[in-house]
Amino acid sequence: MFELRVSEGRLSLRAPHLAGYGAISADWQSPDQRRRIQGGKKQLLAKAVGLHKQPRLHVLDGTAGLGRDSYTLAALGATVTLVERTPALVRLLRDAQARALLAEGSRAIAERLTVIEAVSHQLLLSAAAEGAQWDVIYLDPMYPEDGKSALPAKEMQVLRDLTGGDADADALLDPALACARQRVVVKRPAKAPWLAGRKPSLEYQGTQARFDVYLPQR
Ligand SMILES: C[S@@+](CC[C@H](N)C(=O)[O-])C[C@H]1O[C@@H](n2cnc3c(N)ncnc32)[C@H](O)[C@@H]1O
Repeated sequence: MFELRVSEGRLSLRAPHLAGYGAISADWQSPDQRRRIQGGKKQLLAKAVGLHKQPRLHVLDGTAGLGRDSYTLAALGATVTLVERTPALVRLLRDAQARALLAEGSRAIAERLTVIEAVSHQLLLSAAAEGAQWDVIYLDPMYPEDGKSALPAKEMQVLRDLTGGDADADALLDPALACARQRVVVKRPAKAPWLAGRKPSLEYQGTQARFDVYLPQR
């Protein structure tokens, strides 16, 4: 159903069964990605993670997807471990990292990224048992369509079809809290309910997205 192919110097994923959707790839040099980085440390993502106060944070992105948020955080100074469970997306992420390592302007950023193919629940539970921690755990699981919102971006539709959605997302919160030195940040659509129905310590509300911050209680 899905096909991975190299074209124009990059690996891309095609979904011939989804009418009207072109190839998607992890593209960290796109104008959209540049705009995200230009948003700097005052954008909600960076503030929620805490990068405006501590630029050298170690972040684990437990739902890496196409790596846009991870790459933005790394471009703003963080060192990021990207965890993704869908093998085709892991290949797109590794391809994007290989391309970024070759380009003068992005090499230093790409060197701060580590891509891991794993299920984050399992990785975090094993890490917690060994006492391993990251400063911040970042989560952006897919949210079920509610039928009222505008159509998701084409990437989101392809991702939804490819991964089957992230129905087990609620179960990420406790393992993430066990491994976070400073905070867990969860990205949600602006009006979506809290992850696992749990009230966050802080909320950064944007027009389309909201960032819920959970502080570990120790
Ligand atoms: C909405 S996308 C994330 C988009 C990402 N923030 C970006 O900037 O491109 C969610 C991704 O998380 C992955 N995912 C969800 N739950 C996961 C888990 N428990 N372990 C690893 N990956 C997971 C899905 O496969 C999907 O690719």
